[in-house]
Amino acid sequence: MSFEHRLMAAADETGGSFWMPPEISTSAAGVDWIFYFIFWISLFFFLLIVGLMTYFVVRYRRPKGSQPEGAPSHNMVLEVTWSVIPLILVIFIFYLGFKGFMDLFTAPQNAYEVLVTGQKWKWLFQYPNGYVDENLHVPVDVPVRLVMSSEDVIHSLYIPAFRVKRDVVPGRYTKAWFQATQAGDYQIFCAEYCGKSHSDMLAKVVVEKPGDFEKWLEKAANFLDTMPPAEAGARLYKTRGCAQCHSIDGTSGIGPTFKGVFGETVVMLGGAKVAVDENYLRESINEPQARVVAGYQPVMPTFKGRLKDKEITAIIEYIKSLER
Ligand code: CUA
Repeated sequence: MSFEHRLMAAADETGGSFWMPPEISTSAAGVDWIFYFIFWISLFFFLLIVGLMTYFVVRYRRPKGSQPEGAPSHNMVLEVTWSVIPLILVIFIFYLGFKGFMDLFTAPQNAYEVLVTGQKWKWLFQYPNGYVDENLHVPVDVPVRLVMSSEDVIHSLYIPAFRVKRDVVPGRYTKAWFQATQAGDYQIFCAEYCGKSHSDMLAKVVVEKPGDFEKWLEKAANFLDTMPPAEAGARLYKTRGCAQCHSIDGTSGIGPTFKGVFGETVVMLGGAKVAVDENYLRESINEPQARVVAGYQPVMPTFKGRLKDKEITAIIEYIKSLER
């Protein structure tokens, strides 16, 4: 066991501390070790320097009525000592920091890949089979690589228990990776101020036991076949972007609210009146510009080809369930 490994093993106690959340990834112990190393060095030298200063102020004060003595010139041994010791410490901190940075930056080749999208104000996680979830499920003891981008402004994916934090930027991809060491639920935050609901931009990492992850993913990906359509629609409403423009509480957004809209007669741009039924909703999803509700801009993109018929049916069933 190398010196460094022994130090890390000593620091590797799960359960968290006064300063730190529990260490649930393979990188966490190393990150914490550097933190504590710098912390204790800082505390040690703070107390040493302030203590000596206080002592010297008292010990060498000029007594009343005495004349100032000539200042001493210099002390070679002392000056070399207080230059070389910090130099060694700083080089050691750089070495640890650089190693830790490379570890956090370089995902293993065989890592399981999850695509992450940040948007105001939610996270979406897409798995290799195409399934999208609002929470991040990962298998325990498997390296996971996140390939992340943003739909709008800069966000930052932050998982304290894994000591992972990386900006999520529009127009480019950023990456992060981790290997979880313990099953359980852990918090995800957004760590970059991104607007009024920044503090609500939360999600969970669910670390699954061996075998459970595959079962979960298979079941989750088949939600259209296993869930009641309205419930499946509620999920699609959140993961397919409807929620960005259409509220479910009666308030107007970029588009009209979904609440109580089914069965209503609505005035369109141009004055025509339309009864909102299944066919109108289907048309609005596939050809949003065909008939736009009065008072709104024709800005909705088409979902033709992006949503399967079954998904459209589920969303319509969900809208029907949102009674006034
Ligand atoms: Cu997203 Cu703050």
